Amino acid sequence: MTATTASSAAYIVAALLFILSLAGLSRHESAKTGNVFGIAGMAIALAATIALATRSIAAGGVALLATAMVIGATIGVWRARRVEMTGMPELIAILHSFVGLAAVLVGWNGFWSVERRGAAQNEVASSLLGIHSGEVVIGVFIGAVTFTGSIVAFLKLSGRIKGNPLMLPAHNWLNLGALVAFVALTAFFVARPSLGLLVGVTALALVLGWHLVASIGGGDMPVVVSMLNSYSGWAAAASGFLLDNNLLIITGALVGSSGAYLSYIMCKAMNRSFLSVIAGGFGNEGAAASDQDYGEHTEITAAETAELLRNAKSVIITPGYGMAVAQAQNPVAELTRQLRARDVEVRFGIHPVAGRLPGHMNVLLAEAKVPYDIVLEMDEINDDFADTSVVLVIGANDTVNPAAMEDPGSPIAGMPVLHVWEAADVVVFKRSMNTGYAGVQNPLFFRDNTKMLFGDARERVDDILRAL
Ligand code: TAP
Repeated sequence: MTATTASSAAYIVAALLFILSLAGLSRHESAKTGNVFGIAGMAIALAATIALATRSIAAGGVALLATAMVIGATIGVWRARRVEMTGMPELIAILHSFVGLAAVLVGWNGFWSVERRGAAQNEVASSLLGIHSGEVVIGVFIGAVTFTGSIVAFLKLSGRIKGNPLMLPAHNWLNLGALVAFVALTAFFVARPSLGLLVGVTALALVLGWHLVASIGGGDMPVVVSMLNSYSGWAAAASGFLLDNNLLIITGALVGSSGAYLSYIMCKAMNRSFLSVIAGGFGNEGAAASDQDYGEHTEITAAETAELLRNAKSVIITPGYGMAVAQAQNPVAELTRQLRARDVEVRFGIHPVAGRLPGHMNVLLAEAKVPYDIVLEMDEINDDFADTSVVLVIGANDTVNPAAMEDPGSPIAGMPVLHVWEAADVVVFKRSMNTGYAGVQNPLFFRDNTKMLFGDARERVDDILRAL
């Protein structure tokens, strides 16, 4: 068996492992196994690629490759071990930017080693040169959009720049104009490749990526993260064509299509069309909305909440980002156990965009060993709130905001939410009257059947456990 056949076989095994990994990751129960499949697939892919590369590069090149891998792996392991669950979205965003940058560099390298050398001297047959040039320009474009878009997403998610959308006049026309200019530049480049045109495409795509994400506001950021995930996949697939690496094409297509599907699911969950997300602007009136006077709120103590729970027949817990910040999942799981031991029916209602990344709440609850069968999706539980004695809203805000249904002028109007206010009593755990991620005030906090339990969610749940 030649080295090329062996590496092709290894690539097929790795591709199958990646598909098994995605299948595993789609269910809580099998997520860990899915991860193991992914790690195994990547290890095989790396080993096969390095084995192939060592045949064609000099010893100095191999040393360089090994050094780059050791540095990359060390930084990767260090960051992954340190990152908090709440910091995951920004870590993912910055990692997407690396994929984008890599695709740009691969594209530029392709240009340098083929088009720049002239048709006479390069190994690409002149009949295929046009296809190569197309691959270069498309790879560079997708990569550069992903690169700057992901950097802006990182800056927004980590709070380094404001989450409000940038609203340049006629911003949709600017995006459309950039796309038309890209198509024209691509046609020119394929007809007559030149350094100037490639610089033009790169600059255009860098500005477009920055503008696309900068003009998307607060509530739409979940879709942006998965959209950039998809772009990074397509950027990798484009690099795969240029590097003639089948596994990169397959992996890129898997990431690209699963990211696109995730964006679709999230848009559906938030009742938004994909195009209106790209067009931006959602959440920009948030500051104005939060100035509105909703009246007085009522407070409750942990001991009083324990009393409410003691007398309850059924309880629904709706966790949100604040539960992740407070790391309250273990005390919440303990509270669940204690209430169930007292014959209180306890279930969880999970909003599709609760927290800061898809499945955020499910991961935390699984980590705290809450049984899967009492953790229900929003659609499965939304009709049951009316028959529920007590709802505990633990660090959630936007996902339980009735204004999304009742106020057409609200910046989050139309987003499906958990109907917590229909329960007999609602206790909201948060530290202040501050708004949530979308910057919109929540009329739930001022309703007659809602009581505010202020303080860190973990400390308050511990207090309730003591009182019980
Ligand atoms: P949010 O609307 O973000 O509200 C979280 C609440 O938790 C805040 O109001 C905050 O109030 C409270 N909180 C923070 N730390 C706390 C602590 N230590 N103890 C108790 N409370 C604490 O949360 P949500 O309902 O989960 O909604 C998620 C939002 O994030 C949506 O707007 C969604 O679009 C967006 N988003 C989601 C994703 C994904 S994919 N899930 C990605 C990016 C953005 P205080 O400050 O008063 O405590």
